[in-house]
Amino acid sequence: MKTILVTGGNGQLALCIKKLTAVYPEISFIFAGHKELDISDPEKVKRVFAKKNFDWCINCAAYTKVDLAESEPEKAFLINKEGSKNLANICKENNTKLIHISTDFVFDGAGKTPYLESSITNPINIYGLSKLQGELEIEKALKEYYIIRTSWLYSEYGKNFLRTMLRLSKNNKELKVVNDQNGSPTYAGDLAEVILKIIEDDSENYGLYNYSNKGQTTWYGFAKEIFQLTGGNTQVKPIDSEEYRTAAKRPQYSVLNCDKIEEAYKLEIPNWKTSLKKAITKLYE
Ligand SMILES: NC(=O)c1ccc[n+]([C@@H]2O[C@H](COP(=O)([O-])OP(=O)(O)OC[C@H]3O[C@@H](n4cnc5c(N)ncnc54)[C@H](OP(=O)(O)O)[C@@H]3O)[C@@H](O)[C@H]2O)c1
Repeated sequence: MKTILVTGGNGQLALCIKKLTAVYPEISFIFAGHKELDISDPEKVKRVFAKKNFDWCINCAAYTKVDLAESEPEKAFLINKEGSKNLANICKENNTKLIHISTDFVFDGAGKTPYLESSITNPINIYGLSKLQGELEIEKALKEYYIIRTSWLYSEYGKNFLRTMLRLSKNNKELKVVNDQNGSPTYAGDLAEVILKIIEDDSENYGLYNYSNKGQTTWYGFAKEIFQLTGGNTQVKPIDSEEYRTAAKRPQYSVLNCDKIEEAYKLEIPNWKTSLKKAITKLYE
């Protein structure tokens, strides 16, 4: 029986993985939340790995507060860079295969066509830089790793754009949403399925992959589709990023080319609108 450790066990991606565990009765999953396993503390990481042999580690733990990272960069680097390094080192010592999640924010957004795994990175905020440095630590330490860059992750769990829009619509008749950043919303439930497929296949196609839902939109387009699908009469007004200043700059374009993962794992990646419908159904279940 395979044993899998999932770090960041209470985050939205980890919760989507948890929901799928019933489909994999032959796998033993251990979900470790921030309290049980702080990935930035090498001693705690060692202690958890000393108790059990893990065949795989899925790293869902991350510092994900993009704007706050600008004012507490040490914390972002400690978790996203050093935490990734701690996991890579312990995975190497224990022959554990690591699946790590990264982000479209490693790019500067100046591109005009979907980013490949080989495209040049150039993060424009602290979060993106800390995530890129985490990737580099893993690539330095390990051969048996998968790094999956994803974008605009949302689900029925936790804090994300879908849930924020629905919450704000309760007290606002009109919402202003940025219409000059282009990307691909990705349902974390779809990403969770792909992660488990990689483990099931165990085909040793190690390396860096992009994964997002198909198609692209802006945050405004994403919000419009949310209200189209959920009904209600919230009006969405398009604005420019200039009108919605945030502490961290965001890439204007961060669409990912997912051909590599699609071909390697024979995936049919759903369009973002199809997956949004699925997520909303789950949210209301
Ligand atoms: N959300 C997005 O739009 C997006 C886009 C692209 C890529 N990603 C990447 O996708 C992955 C999953 O993101 P997500 O949306 O599921 O994030 P999330 O919901 O914020 O979950 C991250 C989890 O990590 C935990 N954590 C934070 N610091 C930790 C530490 N030192 N040790 C252990 N756990 C720690 C958090 O716990 P606490 O809350 O208790 O600190 C939280 O439960 C991350 O690698 C993220 O960078 C996310």
